[in-house]
Amino acid sequence: MPPCKLALKLQVRPTRPGGIFPVSPVGLKQSKNRSESGLLAPVVSAESGDSRVWKCLYRFLTDRGAQAHHEKDKLRMNDKTNEDAVLHLGDQKISLPVYVGTEGEKAIDISSLRKESGFVTLDPGYVNTGSTLSSVCFIDGEEGILRYRGYPIEQLALNSNFVETSYLLIHGDLPNPEQYETFRTNLRFHSMIHEDMRHFYDGFPSSAHPMAILSAMVMGLSTFYTDIEDPENDDNMDLTICRLLSKVRTLAAFSFKKSIGQPFIYPDNSLSYCGNFMHMMFRVPAEPYHVDPEVERALNLLLILHADHEQNCSTSTVRMVGSSLTNLYACISAGISALWGSRHGGANQAVLEQLSMIHENGQDVEAFMEQVKDKESPTRLMGFGHRVYKNYDPRAKIIKEACDRLLDHLGVEDPLLDVARRLEEIALNDNYFIDRNLYPNVDFYSGIMYRAIGIPTNMFTVMFALGRLPGWIAHWLEQRNNPKDRIQRPRQIYTGEQIREYPQ
Ligand code: CMC
Repeated sequence: MPPCKLALKLQVRPTRPGGIFPVSPVGLKQSKNRSESGLLAPVVSAESGDSRVWKCLYRFLTDRGAQAHHEKDKLRMNDKTNEDAVLHLGDQKISLPVYVGTEGEKAIDISSLRKESGFVTLDPGYVNTGSTLSSVCFIDGEEGILRYRGYPIEQLALNSNFVETSYLLIHGDLPNPEQYETFRTNLRFHSMIHEDMRHFYDGFPSSAHPMAILSAMVMGLSTFYTDIEDPENDDNMDLTICRLLSKVRTLAAFSFKKSIGQPFIYPDNSLSYCGNFMHMMFRVPAEPYHVDPEVERALNLLLILHADHEQNCSTSTVRMVGSSLTNLYACISAGISALWGSRHGGANQAVLEQLSMIHENGQDVEAFMEQVKDKESPTRLMGFGHRVYKNYDPRAKIIKEACDRLLDHLGVEDPLLDVARRLEEIALNDNYFIDRNLYPNVDFYSGIMYRAIGIPTNMFTVMFALGRLPGWIAHWLEQRNNPKDRIQRPRQIYTGEQIREYPQ
């Protein structure tokens, strides 16, 4: 890495707003650093968009013992508190540093535990384990709070669109008008896929699940765009990101057309991001098609609500795969596979199937709920419960209202909505659900909206993937730009056979 000569300003907030300390990141001189300021969780900011400068600054600070967290053009310092956690293991006393995040979340740093004691920690399902420092998304599951880069989800849902929210997640701040225009133009420009990729679809059976096709096709992109990404070259990286965001939308629409035997519809770059997607999904060559602005608005909203959710299963998969330094396309393809399962993004399809099953069989809703609560039965109420939310999922609240609006606008009366409302009403008043803090999650009402828009059930999880894409990218970038990133490689506690002789 070439030496950086740029002078940077170290700004400490929020405890001391406006405190600006000149810092030279390559060790020439340092007039004041974090340990002198004695403050928790300051943020370093500067006018440089050159990620090499940040890497230099990161090294400069961490070499001096600071705990810092580097992003593309920001550097956040996460501070050790004065309190240590003390672990007693027999006669041994081990002090473990305690860290706090910007929202007061506390963590015990066990990174030296094995070295000092020979012990590892055991936490199946990572219920208590923070895998990373991250500044992309904040969730308070007890209070039902979700924020992207500090902005409440309710405000983004009301005022933003999916393109702007994607920029926010990926770049860390809302775009100014010029940045927005450039980003939007790039997304438009890269909407087509290589013509040879179109022929890949001929090889899939028409019964293929669109998630399988999407995962395979995204991996296929890496064979066409071999210039891929170069972490040291921001332009190349931006190009890869825009290609991915734009082309995944085309790949998703083509997989739908394949599944219903209709010809592919090429993108129309005069349309908006969501409008263009609807055009590729619903237009047929023989008929004109007009994008309904209300539906386009609803689609924007759904994608915004799905855009990120910190270290969930698919995002952790993207980070895990990315930690081996494989390319972005491969990581996203893995993320799509992780999302597919019914405990995660696949739940939106499962909810619709469950509601349809109850409705079509004329099943008694109360009896169905008894089955859900029965520990001997494998049935769960799909679209309910969440690892993090122990309160109403804020996304579900927004979707429920939007669902009523959309159905009103389209004049749709969906009997499945009545079934869903009845299930929710029973659950919210039932001790089984109350005791376990089980509330509707993002998937409970989203399927009814997708159905009203005309999206078939087996495409629901593809819609989730389309929405989650900017979040995956933001996390992948955050990790890739962190000079202290290491391969993710958990330990285990072996419980198998002890050594035995191979029979002669
Ligand atoms: N229906 C009935 N009981 C449930 C449900 C449910 N949907 N979810 C959790 N429980 C019970 C579970 O049986 C357990 O009871 P007990 O303590 O008596 O053994 C307790 O609640 C805790 O559940 P858990 O499985 O230990 O919780 P988890 O954090 O490991 O799992 C979950 C979270 C989302 C996988 C789970 O709630 C679930 O399977 N929900 C249905 C599938 C679903 O809607 N998934 C979408 C999640 S939101 C979209 C996303 O981000 O992926």
